[in-house]
Amino acid sequence: MKYEKPAKPRLTGLKYNIPMRYETIQNLSIPKLGFGTWTIGGDSSPDRSRDQRSLTALYSALDLGYTHFDTAEMYAAGRAEELLGQAVRARGIARQNLFITSKVSPEHLTHDGVLHSCEQSLRRLGMDYIDLYLIHWPTAGMKLEDSFRALNTLVRRGQVRHLGVSNFNLKLLERSLALSETPLLTNQVSYSLADREYQQNGVLAYCQQHDILLTAYSPVKPRAIRSLQALQAVAQARQATRQQIALALLTSQARVITIPMSANPQHQAENLAAADIVLTAEEMAQLG
Ligand SMILES: NC(=O)c1ccc[n+]([C@@H]2O[C@H](COP(=O)([O-])OP(=O)(O)OC[C@H]3O[C@@H](n4cnc5c(N)ncnc54)[C@H](OP(=O)(O)O)[C@@H]3O)[C@@H](O)[C@H]2O)c1
Repeated sequence: MKYEKPAKPRLTGLKYNIPMRYETIQNLSIPKLGFGTWTIGGDSSPDRSRDQRSLTALYSALDLGYTHFDTAEMYAAGRAEELLGQAVRARGIARQNLFITSKVSPEHLTHDGVLHSCEQSLRRLGMDYIDLYLIHWPTAGMKLEDSFRALNTLVRRGQVRHLGVSNFNLKLLERSLALSETPLLTNQVSYSLADREYQQNGVLAYCQQHDILLTAYSPVKPRAIRSLQALQAVAQARQATRQQIALALLTSQARVITIPMSANPQHQAENLAAADIVLTAEEMAQLG
């Protein structure tokens, strides 16, 4: 697929490389709107026939000014990390201008497994550190003490800058906080207009009270933005798309950041611009 620069996105005032809205936390500034890489390079296994399409999506995201990328060793069994590294090098972007998250898979949560997984992710990315390294999913049999012993080592070695978890309930999050030698930076969970589980189970409030980010994944999946009347009404009033309002609902909340994925340059630009929409309390209430 030939890469064409995206047409001017719908929000007025948007240009390429717009300044991004940041969440300031633990003396760090992290872009509120990142770029997800699930389906880059394949699904659960690599699919080389998708390489060109995936690189095209990454190039347009980088050209638009995305600097925050979310990946995982699990995505396309490592191919997503390889392609992300390749795209960054091809665009000549300095490492310090990027914020890269990756994740260790549930089957690698032993002490040695975590160390090995991180080494492999660094090799595939072609980078010498990962900004944020997460436990992708908890498992029933995991020994969280062993996993964190290795995660703490990675931070001490400088291979990882910050630690976090993903899909952790409140109890596991509290245990992780106690085991991490450095302040836990995030719990990455499914959170959207249609999925309020982590709001209802107290994780969101806990994160806000303890200076932890809640990174919302799957924020604009069709099921997350199905034609809710309130969403349509706010979108119309703002001259924005429904996806933009669904994203703005997240980025307007304290300590919430989000990482939509899109292979479509127009959608990528619209998503990035959504972080600039600050919803009023009235609009937030309207969305429920
Ligand atoms: N930690 C975890 O367990 C976990 C789980 C799931 C996901 N994640 C992370 O979160 C990222 C995002 O989640 P996700 O990929 O599941 O869901 P998502 O980003 O909510 O949805 C992706 C889908 O929405 C479409 N889309 C995106 N922006 C759009 C827009 N502005 N207008 C219309 N359609 C739009 C995309 O299609 P087009 O390509 O056509 O735009 C794509 O089909 C993943 O890539 C991954 O990095 C983490």
